[in-house]
Amino acid sequence: MKVLVATQKPFAPVAVKGIQEIVEKAGHSFALLEKYEQESELLAAVADADALIVRSDKVTPAVFDAARQLKIVVRAGAGYDNLDLPAATAHGVVAMNTPGQNANAVAELAIAMMIYMCRCQFTPATGSEVQGKTLGIQAFGNVGRLVGQKAAALGMKVKAVDPFIPADAIRAAGAEPVASVEELYAGCDFVSIHIPATPQTVGSIGRDLIARMPKGATLVNTARKEVIDEAGLDAVLEERPDLKYATDVAPDNIEALKEKYGLRVFATPKKMGAQTKEANVNAGLAAARQIVDFFATGNTKFKLN
Ligand code: 3PG
Repeated sequence: MKVLVATQKPFAPVAVKGIQEIVEKAGHSFALLEKYEQESELLAAVADADALIVRSDKVTPAVFDAARQLKIVVRAGAGYDNLDLPAATAHGVVAMNTPGQNANAVAELAIAMMIYMCRCQFTPATGSEVQGKTLGIQAFGNVGRLVGQKAAALGMKVKAVDPFIPADAIRAAGAEPVASVEELYAGCDFVSIHIPATPQTVGSIGRDLIARMPKGATLVNTARKEVIDEAGLDAVLEERPDLKYATDVAPDNIEALKEKYGLRVFATPKKMGAQTKEANVNAGLAAARQIVDFFATGNTKFKLN
Protein backbone atom coordinates (compact mmCIF):
# COMPACT_ATOMS: atom_id res chain seq x y z
CA MET A 1 0.00 0.00 0.00
CA LYS A 2 1.17 3.54 -0.68
CA VAL A 3 0.90 6.01 2.19
CA LEU A 4 1.08 9.69 1.25
CA VAL A 5 1.79 12.46 3.76
CA ALA A 6 0.45 15.70 2.28
CA THR A 7 0.98 18.78 4.43
CA GLN A 8 0.94 22.42 3.38
CA LYS A 9 2.34 23.17 6.83
CA PRO A 10 5.06 20.49 7.19
CA PHE A 11 5.59 18.27 10.20
CA ALA A 12 8.94 18.57 11.99
CA PRO A 13 11.54 16.42 10.13
CA VAL A 14 11.77 14.02 13.08
CA ALA A 15 8.03 13.33 12.76
CA VAL A 16 8.28 12.74 9.00
CA LYS A 17 11.15 10.31 9.62
CA GLY A 18 9.12 8.49 12.28
CA ILE A 19 6.08 8.19 10.03
CA GLN A 20 8.23 6.85 7.19
CA GLU A 21 9.83 4.25 9.48
CA ILE A 22 6.46 2.97 10.74
CA VAL A 23 5.02 2.78 7.23
CA GLU A 24 8.03 1.04 5.66
CA LYS A 25 8.55 -1.35 8.56
CA ALA A 26 5.00 -2.57 7.98
CA GLY A 27 5.85 -3.24 4.32
CA HIS A 28 4.12 -0.22 2.79
CA SER A 29 5.61 2.51 0.63
CA PHE A 30 5.93 6.14 1.70
CA ALA A 31 5.47 9.37 -0.26
CA LEU A 32 5.72 12.99 0.84
CA LEU A 33 4.16 16.19 -0.50
CA GLU A 34 5.04 19.23 1.59
CA LYS A 35 4.38 22.97 1.26
CA TYR A 36 2.21 22.53 -1.81
CA GLU A 37 0.46 25.68 -2.94
CA GLN A 38 -2.21 24.51 -5.36
CA GLU A 39 -4.86 21.84 -4.87
CA SER A 40 -3.80 20.48 -8.28
CA GLU A 41 -0.50 19.32 -6.70
CA LEU A 42 -2.44 17.35 -4.10
CA LEU A 43 -4.77 15.91 -6.74
CA ALA A 44 -1.78 14.61 -8.70
CA ALA A 45 -0.05 13.19 -5.62
CA VAL A 46 -3.10 11.28 -4.30
CA ALA A 47 -3.86 9.58 -7.64
CA ASP A 48 -2.14 6.31 -6.64
CA ALA A 49 -2.24 6.65 -2.82
CA ASP A 50 -3.98 4.01 -0.71
CA ALA A 51 -3.73 6.05 2.48
CA LEU A 52 -3.40 9.77 3.16
CA ILE A 53 -2.13 11.67 6.21
CA VAL A 54 -2.96 15.39 6.40
CA ARG A 55 -3.00 18.22 8.93
CA SER A 56 -5.40 21.15 8.28
CA ASP A 57 -5.16 20.46 4.55
CA LYS A 58 -8.55 20.59 2.87
CA VAL A 59 -9.62 17.16 1.67
CA THR A 60 -12.42 18.13 -0.70
CA PRO A 61 -14.70 16.06 -2.95
CA ALA A 62 -12.22 16.79 -5.77
CA VAL A 63 -9.45 15.13 -3.75
CA PHE A 64 -11.58 12.02 -3.19
CA ASP A 65 -12.47 11.95 -6.91
CA ALA A 66 -8.77 12.08 -7.81
CA ALA A 67 -7.73 9.49 -5.20
CA ARG A 68 -9.09 6.45 -6.96
CA GLN A 69 -7.26 3.92 -4.75
CA LEU A 70 -7.73 5.70 -1.44
CA LYS A 71 -8.99 3.58 1.43
CA ILE A 72 -8.20 5.70 4.47
CA VAL A 73 -7.47 9.35 5.30
CA VAL A 74 -6.16 10.34 8.72
CA ARG A 75 -6.18 13.91 9.94
CA ALA A 76 -3.11 14.05 12.21
CA GLY A 77 -4.77 16.25 14.80
CA ALA A 78 -8.10 16.85 16.47
CA GLY A 79 -10.31 19.18 14.41
CA TYR A 80 -11.59 17.53 11.23
CA ASP A 81 -13.55 20.41 9.71
CA ASN A 82 -11.07 20.18 6.79
CA LEU A 83 -12.27 16.69 5.81
CA ASP A 84 -15.37 16.37 3.64
CA LEU A 85 -16.85 13.39 5.46
CA PRO A 86 -19.87 12.85 3.18
CA ALA A 87 -17.48 12.71 0.20
CA ALA A 88 -15.23 10.26 2.07
CA THR A 89 -18.19 8.02 2.79
CA ALA A 90 -19.48 8.28 -0.78
CA HIS A 91 -16.06 7.11 -2.01
CA GLY A 92 -15.87 4.30 0.55
CA VAL A 93 -12.94 5.95 2.34
CA VAL A 94 -12.52 5.63 6.12
CA ALA A 95 -11.73 8.99 7.75
CA MET A 96 -10.02 9.24 11.15
CA ASN A 97 -8.41 11.81 13.42
CA THR A 98 -5.89 11.41 16.24
CA PRO A 99 -7.69 12.97 19.23
CA GLY A 100 -5.57 14.25 22.10
CA GLN A 101 -2.21 13.74 20.41
CA ASN A 102 -1.43 17.44 19.94
CA ALA A 103 -3.56 18.74 22.82
CA ASN A 104 -0.72 19.73 25.13
CA ALA A 105 0.88 21.99 22.53
CA VAL A 106 -2.40 23.85 21.99
CA ALA A 107 -3.01 24.12 25.74
CA GLU A 108 0.46 25.59 26.30
CA LEU A 109 -0.19 28.16 23.57
CA ALA A 110 -3.52 29.17 25.15
CA ILE A 111 -1.77 29.80 28.48
CA ALA A 112 1.08 31.65 26.75
CA MET A 113 -1.39 33.90 24.93
CA MET A 114 -3.14 34.79 28.19
CA ILE A 115 0.13 35.84 29.80
CA TYR A 116 1.27 37.62 26.63
CA MET A 117 -1.91 39.71 26.64
CA CYS A 118 -1.57 40.39 30.38
CA ARG A 119 1.95 41.69 29.70
CA CYS A 120 0.79 44.05 26.94
CA GLN A 121 2.42 41.91 24.22
CA PHE A 122 5.84 42.32 25.89
CA THR A 123 5.93 46.08 25.55
CA PRO A 124 7.16 48.17 28.49
CA ALA A 125 3.62 49.07 29.58
CA THR A 126 2.60 47.91 33.07
CA GLY A 127 0.80 44.60 32.79
CA SER A 128 -1.12 42.29 35.09
CA GLU A 129 -0.90 38.70 36.36
CA VAL A 130 -3.06 35.67 35.76
CA GLN A 131 -2.77 34.43 39.34
CA GLY A 132 -6.01 34.97 41.24
CA LYS A 133 -8.04 35.57 38.07
CA THR A 134 -10.89 33.40 36.83
CA LEU A 135 -10.56 31.39 33.63
CA GLY A 136 -13.58 30.06 31.77
CA ILE A 137 -13.07 27.09 29.46
CA GLN A 138 -15.56 26.77 26.63
CA ALA A 139 -15.59 23.04 25.82
CA PHE A 140 -13.82 20.69 28.19
CA GLY A 141 -12.26 18.16 25.81
CA ASN A 142 -8.62 17.12 25.59
CA VAL A 143 -7.31 20.66 25.15
CA GLY A 144 -9.74 22.40 27.50
CA ARG A 145 -8.94 19.98 30.31
CA LEU A 146 -5.18 20.55 29.96
CA VAL A 147 -5.65 24.33 29.88
CA GLY A 148 -7.63 24.00 33.11
CA GLN A 149 -4.88 21.99 34.83
CA LYS A 150 -2.16 24.42 33.79
CA ALA A 151 -4.23 27.45 34.77
CA ALA A 152 -4.96 25.95 38.19
CA ALA A 153 -1.22 25.44 38.69
CA LEU A 154 -0.75 29.15 37.99
CA GLY A 155 -3.22 30.00 40.76
CA MET A 156 -6.23 30.69 38.56
CA LYS A 157 -9.78 29.74 39.45
CA VAL A 158 -11.12 27.51 36.65
CA LYS A 159 -14.69 27.25 35.41
CA ALA A 160 -15.91 25.23 32.42
CA VAL A 161 -18.93 24.48 30.30
CA ASP A 162 -19.42 21.63 27.86
CA PRO A 163 -22.75 20.41 26.47
CA PHE A 164 -21.41 16.86 26.15
CA ILE A 165 -19.65 16.46 29.51
CA PRO A 166 -21.64 16.04 32.75
CA ALA A 167 -21.06 18.56 35.54
CA ASP A 168 -19.71 15.84 37.83
CA ALA A 169 -17.00 14.91 35.33
CA ILE A 170 -15.99 18.57 34.97
CA ARG A 171 -15.82 18.86 38.77
CA ALA A 172 -13.80 15.64 39.03
CA ALA A 173 -11.29 17.10 36.57
CA GLY A 174 -10.78 20.09 38.82
CA ALA A 175 -12.98 22.79 37.27
CA GLU A 176 -16.21 24.35 38.45
CA PRO A 177 -19.05 23.53 36.04
CA VAL A 178 -21.32 26.38 34.99
CA ALA A 179 -24.79 26.01 33.53
CA SER A 180 -24.43 27.95 30.29
CA VAL A 181 -21.99 29.59 27.91
CA GLU A 182 -23.55 32.96 28.80
CA GLU A 183 -22.82 32.36 32.48
CA LEU A 184 -19.24 31.40 31.65
CA TYR A 185 -18.56 34.60 29.71
CA ALA A 186 -20.25 36.74 32.39
CA GLY A 187 -18.20 35.30 35.23
CA CYS A 188 -14.65 35.02 33.87
CA ASP A 189 -11.67 37.37 33.44
CA PHE A 190 -10.44 35.08 30.65
CA VAL A 191 -12.36 32.76 28.37
CA SER A 192 -10.43 30.15 26.40
CA ILE A 193 -12.32 28.71 23.42
CA HIS A 194 -12.00 25.00 22.59
CA ILE A 195 -15.08 24.23 20.50
CA PRO A 196 -14.81 22.60 17.06
CA ALA A 197 -15.96 24.39 13.90
CA THR A 198 -19.32 22.84 13.00
CA PRO A 199 -22.45 24.22 11.33
CA GLN A 200 -23.77 24.84 14.86
CA THR A 201 -20.70 26.68 16.18
CA VAL A 202 -19.51 28.74 13.19
CA GLY A 203 -20.10 32.43 13.91
CA SER A 204 -21.58 31.55 17.31
CA ILE A 205 -19.31 33.81 19.40
CA GLY A 206 -20.25 37.41 18.75
CA ARG A 207 -21.16 40.71 20.24
CA ASP A 208 -23.87 39.57 22.67
CA LEU A 209 -21.75 36.86 24.23
CA ILE A 210 -18.47 38.76 24.39
CA ALA A 211 -20.18 41.86 25.83
CA ARG A 212 -21.11 39.79 28.89
CA MET A 213 -17.45 39.55 29.93
CA PRO A 214 -16.43 41.57 33.00
CA LYS A 215 -14.29 44.71 32.84
CA GLY A 216 -10.75 44.11 31.57
CA ALA A 217 -11.46 40.60 30.29
CA THR A 218 -9.55 38.74 27.57
CA LEU A 219 -10.93 36.24 25.07
CA VAL A 220 -8.44 33.63 23.81
CA ASN A 221 -9.20 31.56 20.73
CA THR A 222 -6.96 28.60 19.93
CA ALA A 223 -9.84 26.70 18.32
CA ARG A 224 -10.95 27.92 14.88
CA LYS A 225 -11.27 31.47 13.55
CA GLU A 226 -14.62 30.50 12.00
CA VAL A 227 -16.36 30.21 15.38
CA ILE A 228 -16.07 33.98 15.83
CA ASP A 229 -18.57 36.41 14.33
CA GLU A 230 -15.92 38.89 13.17
CA ALA A 231 -18.27 41.86 12.73
CA GLY A 232 -19.65 41.23 16.22
CA LEU A 233 -16.14 41.03 17.66
CA ASP A 234 -15.23 44.33 16.01
CA ALA A 235 -18.38 45.96 17.38
CA VAL A 236 -17.82 44.83 20.94
CA LEU A 237 -14.13 45.81 20.93
CA GLU A 238 -15.22 49.27 19.82
CA GLU A 239 -17.91 49.56 22.51
CA ARG A 240 -15.71 48.13 25.26
CA PRO A 241 -12.17 49.60 25.25
CA ASP A 242 -11.31 47.38 28.22
CA LEU A 243 -11.65 44.05 26.34
CA LYS A 244 -8.85 42.13 24.60
CA TYR A 245 -8.78 39.34 22.00
CA ALA A 246 -5.95 36.91 21.23
CA THR A 247 -6.28 34.31 18.50
CA ASP A 248 -4.53 31.49 16.70
CA VAL A 249 -5.15 32.13 13.76
CA ALA A 250 -5.79 35.63 12.35
CA PRO A 251 -9.37 36.58 11.47
CA ASP A 252 -10.06 37.90 7.97
CA ASN A 253 -10.45 41.44 9.34
CA ILE A 254 -7.18 41.35 11.34
CA GLU A 255 -5.61 44.40 9.70
CA ALA A 256 -8.64 46.55 10.51
CA LEU A 257 -8.75 45.20 14.06
CA LYS A 258 -5.05 45.86 14.67
CA GLU A 259 -5.29 49.36 13.31
CA LYS A 260 -8.30 50.17 15.47
CA TYR A 261 -7.38 48.36 18.67
CA GLY A 262 -3.56 48.07 18.69
CA LEU A 263 -2.22 45.91 21.52
CA ARG A 264 -5.71 44.85 22.58
CA VAL A 265 -5.67 42.39 19.68
CA PHE A 266 -3.13 39.68 18.87
CA ALA A 267 -3.23 37.08 16.11
CA THR A 268 -0.75 34.46 14.94
CA PRO A 269 -0.12 34.74 11.19
CA LYS A 270 -0.29 30.96 10.72
CA LYS A 271 -2.16 28.48 12.89
CA MET A 272 0.51 27.34 15.32
CA GLY A 273 -1.18 25.78 18.35
CA ALA A 274 0.01 22.31 17.37
CA GLN A 275 3.25 23.53 15.83
CA THR A 276 5.70 21.81 18.16
CA LYS A 277 8.08 18.95 17.52
CA GLU A 278 6.37 16.93 20.25
CA ALA A 279 2.86 17.45 18.87
CA ASN A 280 4.03 16.65 15.34
CA VAL A 281 5.62 13.42 16.53
CA ASN A 282 2.63 12.42 18.67
CA ALA A 283 -0.02 13.15 16.04
CA GLY A 284 2.01 12.10 12.98
CA LEU A 285 3.15 8.78 14.40
CA ALA A 286 -0.33 8.04 15.75
CA ALA A 287 -1.73 8.62 12.27
CA ALA A 288 0.85 6.26 10.74
CA ARG A 289 0.13 3.57 13.36
CA GLN A 290 -3.62 3.88 12.83
CA ILE A 291 -3.13 3.35 9.08
CA VAL A 292 -0.81 0.35 9.53
CA ASP A 293 -3.26 -1.17 12.01
CA PHE A 294 -6.22 -0.49 9.71
CA PHE A 295 -4.54 -2.35 6.85
CA ALA A 296 -3.35 -5.18 9.13
CA THR A 297 -6.44 -5.77 11.28
CA GLY A 298 -9.25 -3.53 10.00
CA ASN A 299 -9.17 -1.49 13.24
CA THR A 300 -11.38 1.60 12.82
CA LYS A 301 -11.27 2.88 16.40
CA PHE A 302 -10.96 6.56 15.48
CA LYS A 303 -13.34 6.45 12.51
CA LEU A 304 -15.27 9.68 11.98
CA ASN A 305 -17.63 8.66 9.16
C1 3PG B 1 -6.03 20.44 15.40
O1 3PG B 1 -7.22 20.54 15.13
O2 3PG B 1 -5.50 19.36 15.66
C2 3PG B 1 -5.20 21.69 15.53
O3 3PG B 1 -5.91 22.81 15.15
C3 3PG B 1 -3.88 21.60 14.79
O4 3PG B 1 -3.96 21.84 13.44
P1 3PG B 1 -2.65 21.74 12.50
O5 3PG B 1 -2.27 20.32 12.38
O6 3PG B 1 -3.08 22.32 11.20
O7 3PG B 1 -1.57 22.56 13.14
